[in-house]
Amino acid sequence: MSKASPLNVVILAAGMGKRMHSNLPKVLHKLAGRPLLSHVLDAARALSPAKIIVVTGHEAALVREAAAAPDIVFVNQSPQLGTGHAVQQAVPELAPGGKTVVLLGDVPLIQPAALQPLIDGPVNRVSMMTTLLDDPTGYGRVVRDARKKVKCVVEHKDATRAQHKIREINTGIFCYPTAKLGKWLGQLKPNNAQKEYYVTDVLPMALKDKVPVEGILCSDPPQVEGVNNRAQLTQLERVYQQRLATKLLEQGVAIADPARFDVRGAITCGRDVSIDVGCVFEGKVELGDGVRIGAHCVLNNITVAANTIIEPFSHLTQASVGVNCRIGPYTRIRPGTQLADEVHIGNFVEVKASDIGYGTKASHLTYIGDSTVGRNVNVGAGTITCNYDGANKHRTVIEDDVFIGSDTQLVAPVTVRRGATIGAGATITREAPADQLTLSRAKQMSVPGWKRPVKISKG
Ligand code: UD1
Ligand code: CA
Repeated sequence: MSKASPLNVVILAAGMGKRMHSNLPKVLHKLAGRPLLSHVLDAARALSPAKIIVVTGHEAALVREAAAAPDIVFVNQSPQLGTGHAVQQAVPELAPGGKTVVLLGDVPLIQPAALQPLIDGPVNRVSMMTTLLDDPTGYGRVVRDARKKVKCVVEHKDATRAQHKIREINTGIFCYPTAKLGKWLGQLKPNNAQKEYYVTDVLPMALKDKVPVEGILCSDPPQVEGVNNRAQLTQLERVYQQRLATKLLEQGVAIADPARFDVRGAITCGRDVSIDVGCVFEGKVELGDGVRIGAHCVLNNITVAANTIIEPFSHLTQASVGVNCRIGPYTRIRPGTQLADEVHIGNFVEVKASDIGYGTKASHLTYIGDSTVGRNVNVGAGTITCNYDGANKHRTVIEDDVFIGSDTQLVAPVTVRRGATIGAGATITREAPADQLTLSRAKQMSVPGWKRPVKISKG
């Protein structure tokens, strides 16, 4: 909308969400890893409004903290006397003229395209998004006259038996002429079963003022379904994930089972990426061409370059992985790790805050922490970088072409120079020189005549 005719978006988020049975306010419960309210804010922002006003009430401080952003104005509604009372709190903040869209903080899947028909059309009009439900129990029913024009909305608790049969419901999403809204809201009376100020009572007032009321049917119910309890939250979560999976499948990503696929953030995939069942992607995840992710992996803020394979049950957090690497199964990569190309990190290997060079392998049972590891290093099974002295962390440096024998402890700070070989079972506390074999274990010996103890008989 133009500057002369600005758009406001008001988001109602003051309710407590009793049926969640939770201390967390409902709008902060998460869908796809983000609060319900942030999904609604995304839709609001996509409309490029002049103002976004969020009405908070129950646990207002928590909601404000979670949603705070320079483009949002918060208003408080206390006590919460109904949806009409909630919108009324936003009136002093509205940019005058133009239109005001009201969204609900607990209706997370709404998309900007579905809102457009509400906003389009003359300023002097009230539009209400409706939908058809097989089971409309609990919702406000849309009552139309003989000419199919919207007359009013009747809440379930106030409806007659005949009205209970109406399947068209009020989604709670509206667009109003801003100039008239304040006056109408000021005339609301709580004359109903719940003794609340119903925003829906504005409709007959609009008609009386000769402002047309348009019911606009949304043909995609999940977009306008609200979250009232945890069961509904999981249902909408699955809808979200299924829709995202469908989009990625259409782009060519081989998702083994869209029903066992979870993205809690933003994922981008190159060509011929395959993702097996049960994986969770959190934060920003980028998968290059030909990347394969095995079953039950968790990737949190990860970049994976082309043709790398991540085998099942691997957990990677805040790291980058190069081209043609092989990770897992059962690998843990922790924050601040960079793996160069052609690296192999195998089962029960944990890597934290380390740079691992091209072609290096740590195939089994190893901890590499706070380390710089060069190119073509072979880290034997059971190697541990002892990075923590009980008070401080220290770095381990392993230069190119080093071979570390199995069961070695590298007590940091320590450096293993280029081309060095460390014999198995070593405890390295000082620099190991380049190109030499360094050993630290005791010499093997045998005790002649030694006998195994025998069990003493108690009888
Ligand atoms: C409301 C509508 C109903 C519609 C339904 C759709 C009214 C009177 N009824 O009913 O017609 O079918 O939504 O889901 O409008 N809220 C506040 N402050 C309040 C009360 C509510 O901010 O004082 C917020 C809630 O946090 C929630 C939204 O408004 O986000 C809807 O409130 P809720 O109590 O769930 O309304 P319903 O009774 O479901
Ligand atoms: Ca509701």
